[in-house]
Amino acid sequence: MKTIIEPFRIKVVEPIRLTTREERVELLRRAHWNLFALHSDDVIIDLLTDSGTSAMSAEQWAAVMRGDESYAGSPSYYRFESAVRELMPFKHVIPTHQGRAAEAILFSIVGGSGRIVPSNTHFDTTRGNIEVTGAEAVDLVIAEAHDPSNPHPFKGNMDLDRLDSLLASSGNRVPLVMLTITNNAGGGQPVSLENVRGVAEVAHRHGKALFIDGCRFAENAWFIKCREPGQGARTVVDIVRDIFAVADGMTMSAKKDAFANIGGWLALNDDALAAAARNRLILTEGFPTYGGLAGRDLDAIAVGLREIVDEQYLRYRVRTNEYIGEKLTELGVPIVLPVGGHAVFVDARRFLPHIAPLQYPGQALAVALYELGGIRACEIGTVMFGQRPDGTEVPAEHDLVRLAMPRRVYTQSHADYLIEVFDEVVKVREQLQGLQIIWQPSQLRHFTARFAPVG
Ligand SMILES: Cc1ncc(COP(=O)(O)O)c(C=O)c1O
Repeated sequence: MKTIIEPFRIKVVEPIRLTTREERVELLRRAHWNLFALHSDDVIIDLLTDSGTSAMSAEQWAAVMRGDESYAGSPSYYRFESAVRELMPFKHVIPTHQGRAAEAILFSIVGGSGRIVPSNTHFDTTRGNIEVTGAEAVDLVIAEAHDPSNPHPFKGNMDLDRLDSLLASSGNRVPLVMLTITNNAGGGQPVSLENVRGVAEVAHRHGKALFIDGCRFAENAWFIKCREPGQGARTVVDIVRDIFAVADGMTMSAKKDAFANIGGWLALNDDALAAAARNRLILTEGFPTYGGLAGRDLDAIAVGLREIVDEQYLRYRVRTNEYIGEKLTELGVPIVLPVGGHAVFVDARRFLPHIAPLQYPGQALAVALYELGGIRACEIGTVMFGQRPDGTEVPAEHDLVRLAMPRRVYTQSHADYLIEVFDEVVKVREQLQGLQIIWQPSQLRHFTARFAPVG
């Protein structure tokens, strides 16, 4: 069959409140044109993030009921641990309440002033958790990743030469090497198995451990299966095991590729580092067999991990984003190519060339999507990255709008509706105006800044 259908039926539904354009104009005004300030029940299709927004399966909800809330030694923990180790065979599996808690624990131990932590591209919480210790976070993604129209199949790859020379010149300052799969900050772009192995080889040759930020490991493995020569006949599970077989540890947000609404973990092989991490965990998260989670969450993750490697699901998941990407391209909307695993990124600077970067074309497009169709997307551009510590601002490298797809939540007709809304936006694109910031906090301004239309 040509049509790739949603490989699930719907048993529980959440109603969507259908607002009118007039209502949304007023709601935008009250939210000071910041979409984070909207109430989510005033949103028709919420593409703000794919994190923690998955629909859980009947089996996951059944597992929630099985959850055992014992403080220590809960069977929920052992089910969780064995599900993680089935895919990622690390010696120590340390649960945390979400991904950034795993990062905070890891870098509180290995970070510190004068240290350097290289990655393909650090996600912003990883960067933040490194920098807060006084260490430096360095991005070494391949050059092709910087060109939104370059269709390179593995734009998440690390530049191995740059990694090698960094480790040769400053290896004594590097506690470990990170690799983010898929590369969220770079557009949800995958890393090839060859590159994972190459990064591990370079790191190990210099005596450094490799830690993988595995948030979207299953989507990454699916891309390897579809795009990497020699991998097409292999199962996603085998590819996942190969990825983690060459790593020494990982951080994970279970809010992505574990279909959970909350959760994460730090997993690693080094006994001394694991002991230090568990000490830190007890201080900040909880006892090592629950780590900031309820037993029921650990059970939901255990089941989610078995479901996420289902290839029918992954085919549908990636195809949904490709479908949206193809339709947007037909409408003449420039997008980041190739389409990523969890999101479609629109190049707002190219779509709205009459809006200067310091009048935030990404925010202008996100506001138009909400006003015309009730769609909430996320600006990833000058609003998010343009603010400097001294209060001045500079244009970000790109002005993008991310349409992140929650897992198993929306259907084909929601995707078609999204495309129709874009069609309306295309018709009025020249009339869209930029925005100015009338109030902002001293950092992370995108969450709370207040805007007003220019003029
Ligand atoms: C690549 C990556 N790493 C880490 C995180 C942090 O995970 P959490 O939101 O669970 O703290 C995220 C979340 O979006 C992510 O995308």
